[in-house]
Amino acid sequence: MSNNKNNMPYHVGIIMDGNGRWAQERGQNRSEGHKKGAETLEKIALYAKKIGIKILSLYAFSTDNFKRSQEEVDYLMNLFIKCFETKFDSLCKEGIKVVFSGREYPLKDNVLKAMHKITEKTQNNTGCILNICLNYGGQEEIVDASLKIANDINKGIIKKEDLNRDNFYNYLYQNLPPLDLLIRTGKEHRLSNFMLYQAFYAELYFVDTYFPDFLEKDLDKAIEHFQNCNRKFGNVENK
Ligand code: FPP
Repeated sequence: MSNNKNNMPYHVGIIMDGNGRWAQERGQNRSEGHKKGAETLEKIALYAKKIGIKILSLYAFSTDNFKRSQEEVDYLMNLFIKCFETKFDSLCKEGIKVVFSGREYPLKDNVLKAMHKITEKTQNNTGCILNICLNYGGQEEIVDASLKIANDINKGIIKKEDLNRDNFYNYLYQNLPPLDLLIRTGKEHRLSNFMLYQAFYAELYFVDTYFPDFLEKDLDKAIEHFQNCNRKFGNVENK
């Protein structure tokens, strides 16, 4: 929710849509789109850090994406492992801290291991935070948070009258501030279960470009859109 001096969005989310269509329109297998998408992700994360975005949340795999063919799911899981184990060394070196949001079950051990490895490797980085939403669902996150809250209330850790919309964040997968700007590539105009709690006052920016073709200049345009928004937060003028 915070804007810094240059009115840069503090927390940006991207629904990276259109990998499959990008490949299919070129007569290629959908996996080629994911591969190119991973390259785009790397470029965009480095650029986001360079221009001063503090948190970048990316929708990598939804809980519902398990409905896809086994071949596509396996390809994506192996791509994640490759990226976290080696390909994202550039991000680690640039001081980006990688964290994850989502459920562990039913991710396989080799995927979880690669996720833990990059989390550990980058835990002391202070450049910016890359929050990768993997096996993630926004409704699932709210349900999981509610269960943690019920547990804490039972144990007397929090009183139910002390729960409010601000400390609810403590119970989400990562305690990150709300989204300022939410970008969705790939022509669709919906949230698809992405960061439903954190998106409560996000400026929404939809762009037709498929994610593999999303360039640094496209991120600049989205930020320009954000900077022209009058964020009133329910008040009558932006104070
Ligand atoms: C949505 O496009 C994209 C995904 C479900 C996967 C996103 C994955 C990457 C960008 C690869 C790299 C990610 C990491 C974290 C290393 P889609 O497949 O739904 O495209 P479509 O709507 O055109 O079918």
